[in-house]
Amino acid sequence: MHDTLPDDAIKWQLLEQTIKSTLQSYCYREIRTPILEKTELFSRSIGEATDIVNKEMYTFPDRNGDFLTLRPEGTAGCVRALLQHGLINAGPQRVWYHGPMFRHERPQKGRLRQFHQAGAEAFGIQSAEIDAEMILMCARIWNKLGIKDVQLQLNSLGSYASRQKYRGILVDYLSAHKDQLDEDSINRLTTNPLRILDSKNPEMQALLQSAPPLLDSIDSESADHFATLRALLNSNGLDYEINPRLVRGLDYYNRTVFEWTTDKLGAQGTLCAGGRYDDLVEQVGGKATPGVGFAMGLERILEMTGFSNAELGLNSPQIYQVLVGDAALDNGIKLAERLRDKMPTLRILMHCGGGSFRSQFKKADKSQADYALILGEEEVAKNTVNIKPLRKDAEQYEIHQDDLLDEITNLLQPIQGQTGL
Ligand code: HAM
Repeated sequence: MHDTLPDDAIKWQLLEQTIKSTLQSYCYREIRTPILEKTELFSRSIGEATDIVNKEMYTFPDRNGDFLTLRPEGTAGCVRALLQHGLINAGPQRVWYHGPMFRHERPQKGRLRQFHQAGAEAFGIQSAEIDAEMILMCARIWNKLGIKDVQLQLNSLGSYASRQKYRGILVDYLSAHKDQLDEDSINRLTTNPLRILDSKNPEMQALLQSAPPLLDSIDSESADHFATLRALLNSNGLDYEINPRLVRGLDYYNRTVFEWTTDKLGAQGTLCAGGRYDDLVEQVGGKATPGVGFAMGLERILEMTGFSNAELGLNSPQIYQVLVGDAALDNGIKLAERLRDKMPTLRILMHCGGGSFRSQFKKADKSQADYALILGEEEVAKNTVNIKPLRKDAEQYEIHQDDLLDEITNLLQPIQGQTGL
């Protein structure tokens, strides 16, 4: 679990702002759900036999003996909230969320115990356009963030019934080659055999490559759904790879599943993952309602994203107020408040604690501010202010305080546009 210090927090803000504005441009509306939910919600929806539920959840009894869990993901909480508040039956819903998630995994690069996701979920829409929309939204986010090295992997798990049928076929195949399975896979043969397909064990790759393909077993409606999705992605010029072994680590999926991966981040290269979950609402206690969504891992995305100096500069003041003497302090604090009234995005830092001009200039310089706004007793008496450019070789000059707003507007014009974070 990491602290995010101010030099990094600005990057998080820029990233979250990009994701938020993109999702809102597709008319997804934000939903905020609690970080704690009843344990049962996750075990029922993510699946008793999954690693998340079996090994990774932070679960504890509260003072009443009710079992609660720090959310390991966001989809289950969204379903619970929309059901509880009657929104699931109120026509299609498109929502997005972001925030911390918790999994007690073995920490390594790109894998944390408290990590952050931004996700989107859509409910009540069966047709494949919405699956395509989900994928297009992700592609737009990569584009806006300048992320190039990502690949889209796609598969269809078919209906719940066809998946059960395939489960039988796969178990027969793997049981016939049990001597080639590792210990983990032998355990999964009875609990969660589809996940064996996902194994990274090099010694099992040949066996898994030759396994009967899941796509051959899916029902015809699911096959049509998948064909429509692929046609939509093709007509929008999106590249993807069909990965017949993509099964996902959560049990609620049917039909479409997808992952965006990169080879730039080492072992933890999945930036974003999602798919369709048409049975989940019913499992959680509602009327059967289709659903589809994704979640992206923000720590991993940040690793892939660079920000310009101008963007990172939003963390430093534009103006540092140098204030020498009591009268200057009194005048200066009011002047800064008046400026903020007129220019709400102006970043002006008031020097506190007195000191000589020299020592205050040093601090102004260190603050990375573009200009020092200087007030001493003389300026106060004349109702003027001195302005000293700090980032270019230019002389200090004096203006009347009544002209200050216009002067600052002129000086900061070129960077105004970037200040509306
Ligand atoms: P997930 O594959 O478990 O899916 O997680 C989605 C993404 O969260 C991963 O691709 C990864 O980028 C990030 N992530 C997961 N675990 C960690 C970790 N320990 N440290 C850092 N990043 C991590 C879900 O959570 C589903 N709820 C996605 C979804 C939404 N499906 C439908 N709607």
